[in-house]
Amino acid sequence: MGEVNLPGPTLTVPEALQSFTSKGLNVNDMTTLLGGHTVGVAHCSFFQDRLSNFQGTGAPDRSMDPTLVAKLRRICGTNANDPTAFLDQNTSFAFDNEYYNQIRLRRGVMQIDQELASDTSTAGIVSGFASNPGGFQRSFANAMIKMGSIQVLVGNAGEIRQNCRVVNKGKPQQPSNPGTPKKPTTPGKPKKPTTPVLKPKKPTTPSKSKKPITPKKPKKPITPTKPKKPKTKNQASKHK
Ligand code: HEM
Repeated sequence: MGEVNLPGPTLTVPEALQSFTSKGLNVNDMTTLLGGHTVGVAHCSFFQDRLSNFQGTGAPDRSMDPTLVAKLRRICGTNANDPTAFLDQNTSFAFDNEYYNQIRLRRGVMQIDQELASDTSTAGIVSGFASNPGGFQRSFANAMIKMGSIQVLVGNAGEIRQNCRVVNKGKPQQPSNPGTPKKPTTPGKPKKPTTPVLKPKKPTTPSKSKKPITPKKPKKPITPTKPKKPKTKNQASKHK
């Protein structure tokens, strides 16, 4: 399988953009796709550096709303288990354009999110989406389709993960190309679909999750390029 090139949360917008353009996506696509952060969570270790002594300033990241700083400090505290906070601080469970409003209010949780609102290459797109929910939805659908066509693996070149954070253990249980399903072995009685059902819950003890190994070649965990702190084994593959 190919290399994994996931950008980390402390990349600057131009650095992140380089990552996207290297895959054929443009600044509109990137700004749209980061709107995916309208749902879901981030572990404290991905943004805790912003909460105090940010970049050696002795103070929290000044681009973060102080109320949010206080809230995130309460959530993260000194808990060694690396808790999580919602990426969209307002409508955390709705797939809407609120992420853009939040980052304009300096309520972006990760550095990359916050910078999206201020970088000259993306600020205009952000304010456009903030005031145009339908425009964001349409743009998101298109950008997802575009992203979905990048370096698609077919045949035995890839696999459909049963847990999206790790490569499957052992032999893949279904064809990796969903377009060519296997014939059912008992004609007339269709087999139970083998497509994995994504579990909504994360493993409660991430450190015990499976080591990503396949029979052919051991895989590296997916590691965002610049984590602020060294991660535990599993956090390295937290990105969905
Ligand atoms: C520059 C690009 C991106 C960076 C640096 C980035 C970084 C991150 C990080 C660090 C997390 C937290 C992971 C964790 O703590 O477990 C996260 C979560 C998430 N990201 Fe991204 N991401 C990027 C692009 C995207 C894109 C393109 C999408 C989808 C269109 C996306 C969707 C999500 C979602 C849904 C979550 C929440 C996962 C959960 O709740 O477990 N991200 N991202």
